[in-house]
Amino acid sequence: ELSPIEKAKFAAAKRASDMVESGMKVGLGTGSTAAWMVRCLGERVRREGLKIRGVPTSTRTAELAREVGIEVIALDEAGWLDLTIDGADEFDAELNLIKGGGGALLQEKIVATASDRMVVIADPAKEVAHLGAFPLPIEVIPFGWKTTRNLVEEMLEGMDVLGREVGLRMSGEAPYRTDEGNHILDLHLMRIGNPRQLALVLNQIPGVVENGLFIDICDTVVIGHGDGRVELRD
Ligand code: A5P
Repeated sequence: ELSPIEKAKFAAAKRASDMVESGMKVGLGTGSTAAWMVRCLGERVRREGLKIRGVPTSTRTAELAREVGIEVIALDEAGWLDLTIDGADEFDAELNLIKGGGGALLQEKIVATASDRMVVIADPAKEVAHLGAFPLPIEVIPFGWKTTRNLVEEMLEGMDVLGREVGLRMSGEAPYRTDEGNHILDLHLMRIGNPRQLALVLNQIPGVVENGLFIDICDTVVIGHGDGRVELRD
């Protein structure tokens, strides 16, 4: 028996997976909610013979997709995608997002941006009035990462945020490594006054590869509830 939160994630994932049609090239997100969606799509492939090709956003998702019988192709093989379905850590009323809690933000942003449509699947706890309670992940290259962190901290002085703590994400004793071999800094901002501006300014800092703010990328949010109901925002 699933917990209410897992039921909520499953409900959202199931609904979004029903938006997929044969012939589509589909971006496959990363995280626990996206994993449900990959399983739902795998089931449709097996049961209905749904013909799709999936572009995974992480090695984890690639493994799961193959396991459940989805044909996996690389982004550059696909060129352009019809739809990307992914989870999120937070979304606001404008459907701007914080992503990257699972560390896959770089591939996730590249894949979502290369899609006609991005559908986010979420449980109700992800909806916020203001982004920023969830620490904002940014991907930085390992070379000179402390210098990069200092530049980020300096930049934050001038920004409309409530918190300014910057932490290096760890994996046990060692710095966490993304699929690209980079590190992640988690920015504890509490409340982001101007997400659009922050996203632009962060990416101007040398050493920052990408940030977890998804601005004007998401088209629809499917919110799942523990009782199986779903709500759509677009
Ligand atoms: C992965 O890098 C993230 O962007 C995920 O999409 C996000 O962390 C949501 O994960 P859950 O669905 O597990 O909450």
